[in-house]
Amino acid sequence: MPVENPRELPRQTPGSTATGTAERPSARLHAQAADSVDATLELLARGDYVADRALATAVFLALRLERPLFVEGEPGTGKTEIAKVLANALGAELIRLQCYEGLDVHDAAYEWNYARQMLEIRLGELRSAALAEPAAGSERREDIARELFSERFLIARPLLRALQAHDVAPVLLIDELDRADEPFEAYLLEVLSDFQITIPEWITVKAPQPPLVVITSNRTREIHDAVKRRCIYHWVGYPDAAREFDILRRKAPGCSEALSRQVVAFVQALREVELYKLPGVSETIEWARALMALDAVALDPDVVENTLGVLLKYQDDIARIQGSEAARLIERVRVEAART
Ligand SMILES: Nc1ncnc2c1ncn2[C@@H]1O[C@H](COP(=O)(O)OP(=O)(O)OP(=O)(O)O)[C@@H](O)[C@H]1O
Ligand SMILES: [Mg+2]
Repeated sequence: MPVENPRELPRQTPGSTATGTAERPSARLHAQAADSVDATLELLARGDYVADRALATAVFLALRLERPLFVEGEPGTGKTEIAKVLANALGAELIRLQCYEGLDVHDAAYEWNYARQMLEIRLGELRSAALAEPAAGSERREDIARELFSERFLIARPLLRALQAHDVAPVLLIDELDRADEPFEAYLLEVLSDFQITIPEWITVKAPQPPLVVITSNRTREIHDAVKRRCIYHWVGYPDAAREFDILRRKAPGCSEALSRQVVAFVQALREVELYKLPGVSETIEWARALMALDAVALDPDVVENTLGVLLKYQDDIARIQGSEAARLIERVRVEAART
């Protein structure tokens, strides 16, 4: 039966069982870490994350208003990275829930340790037998039942762990929510709006300090409005050339400035072609690294043809670009480079 008063769980260190009393950190550390949009941009940049102003504003508001951040967008455009960089920059633990089809409460939130409960029952029976106690009365049975559904027998999974007390409120990454089934979204509503989880056999666990929640989706299906309404929503698209160049300089610093410019110009032009799957920023970074590994100093038709598999992951797309289309794109990159 749910207990009406939400209870704060005691302070936890990752992986440990709870001991001691809950303390609420006096200051809102996360909001202090970035007290303006500019400060948020800098915070992200310190983690080598190149955000545009709209994304920095969304992150700032999520921190300031203590609301979950919902980032949806193309694959490989830095959605998951946002949570990693924020956790690092805030000095917070990153608690990650990777979503998949069939994900349920047991894997996502909590689970009762049935094996330990059974053992406890058996030990209780043995103790009673050894002491030659009369059969347990209903009061005793209720005591045992209460004891079995206590924190000692609870296994906390990512959602519950994120609501437990930490020195610094953690960053909870709910990654690729579109892979989970719709009923799971309904389960998330309580976590997202009240930062609490009701455990029917025990209590309602409420976070002493809300975690920073980052939800990502690749939009393979629409996420329910009820989830989105509780979040600050941001669409992450492909970056423009200037931002992609900046990202590349940070993520592949060994790549020369000239080659980095060519790589970015080629990928930007490639995204204008009608392809089944356009390359993301992660492919741009991988391509630059691949070109460096091959000691390429500039793009030429041979090196581009031989490395297309780093950029494109469908044979139809590769076939479409190979040959004259690749040559056309390289020529376009050359003309653009000559103009700047
Ligand atoms: N704005 C950015 N600043 C810095 N690095 C970026 C940026 N965008 C993407 N990256 C880099 O691109 C790579 C892919 O990022 P990430 O895994 O976060 O993408 P994603 O959108 O979560 O992709 P997927 O949809 O496939 O999960 C990472 O190495 C990340 O560092
Ligand atoms: Mg991701």
